[in-house]
Amino acid sequence: MYQELVKRDDLDAVLIATPWNWHTPMALDSMRAGKYTGVEVPAAISMDECWALVNTHEETGVQCMMLENWSFRRDNLAILNMIRAGLLGEIMHAHCSYSHDCVGSYFFDGEGNPRWPGEFLVDNNRNQYPTHAQGPVLSWMDINCGDRYASLTAMATASKGINAYFARTKGPEHPTAKRPFKQGDVVTCLVRTQKGKTIVINCDMMLPRPYDNRWSVQGTLGIYNEQRNSVYIEGRSPQSHQWEPFDPYQTEFDHPWWTELEPEAAQAGHGGTDFVELKMFIKAVREKGPTPVDIYDSATMSSIIPLSEASIAQGGMPVECPDFTRGKWESTKPKFAVV
Ligand SMILES: NC(=O)c1ccc[n+]([C@@H]2O[C@H](COP(=O)([O-])OP(=O)(O)OC[C@H]3O[C@@H](n4cnc5c(N)ncnc54)[C@H](O)[C@@H]3O)[C@@H](O)[C@H]2O)c1
Repeated sequence: MYQELVKRDDLDAVLIATPWNWHTPMALDSMRAGKYTGVEVPAAISMDECWALVNTHEETGVQCMMLENWSFRRDNLAILNMIRAGLLGEIMHAHCSYSHDCVGSYFFDGEGNPRWPGEFLVDNNRNQYPTHAQGPVLSWMDINCGDRYASLTAMATASKGINAYFARTKGPEHPTAKRPFKQGDVVTCLVRTQKGKTIVINCDMMLPRPYDNRWSVQGTLGIYNEQRNSVYIEGRSPQSHQWEPFDPYQTEFDHPWWTELEPEAAQAGHGGTDFVELKMFIKAVREKGPTPVDIYDSATMSSIIPLSEASIAQGGMPVECPDFTRGKWESTKPKFAVV
């Protein structure tokens, strides 16, 4: 039983990579046992779970981090450096997405039966997997350290993709080709921050398509677009109103985590991103310091799941986003990836 595991005194830290409904219960037990806790995405799937993570962290004083690897991606960290150097001006808007066709490969097994993640599609209509999209955006926009999510509105398309996939691959009489699912194919959330900035968070996992995160961030001086691998910066880009390649900026603004760890990271998962993430988590454990992603950011990113469900259920009505920091966002200084 994992409850026995987390109590072992020869362990300093616990990594949790179980189905989503186990993340928070296991993280709470791990924190209560005094172990540094790294929990896979999403850290929580309900608002009660988000608050339980925050409250247990504050009660125990134990560090807990959601393992949102895309926060550590090399290009995303270079963009963060550019933003902190002022190249894009004041950041006003971001777009992000988890666009990944997961019907045949993740939500269902080869026979068309739901695997554990597919069970959530039967009765829930929401952004099921919002954290990979948001990972870099939180630090780009100083969320929980200068600004905070204030309200969210969400809409979902009808549910067609799952039935269409199984009709196409198993025949129209296959039970999953006819089974009703509450989950819409594409969910679009729009967050407004306390300081009047906006973020589109898209979840697009049910229709045939190549993988994409569709990151873009825009400020008073310019814009970055991940799909184009391009930037435009007023007064710096060579031609007015024309994109220029991002690659020279990647070199100029590369984050020290990557320049230091590249030789070791090269062979690791997700282009080395997972290595950099775990290296920084383990550094925090060894030094008994704060984890690179804190519990407030972990709860904020995860809270899009219940918030989107509530808004969709009310026809896209705005819902209020909780302030997990209880006001500390106003005085907290940015700390993610500050070296
Ligand atoms: N960050 C990323 O890029 C990334 C990529 C893939 C998966 N994930 C996340 O990792 C988690 C696991 O995903 P997966 O695809 O490896 O799932 P999986 O089904 O392949 O593995 C889940 C594991 O959890 C174990 N498990 C289930 N219930 C348990 C319990 N009560 N106690 C102990 N062990 C239990 C299972 O035996 C299994 O080994 C998910 O939360 C997923 O979202 C993240």
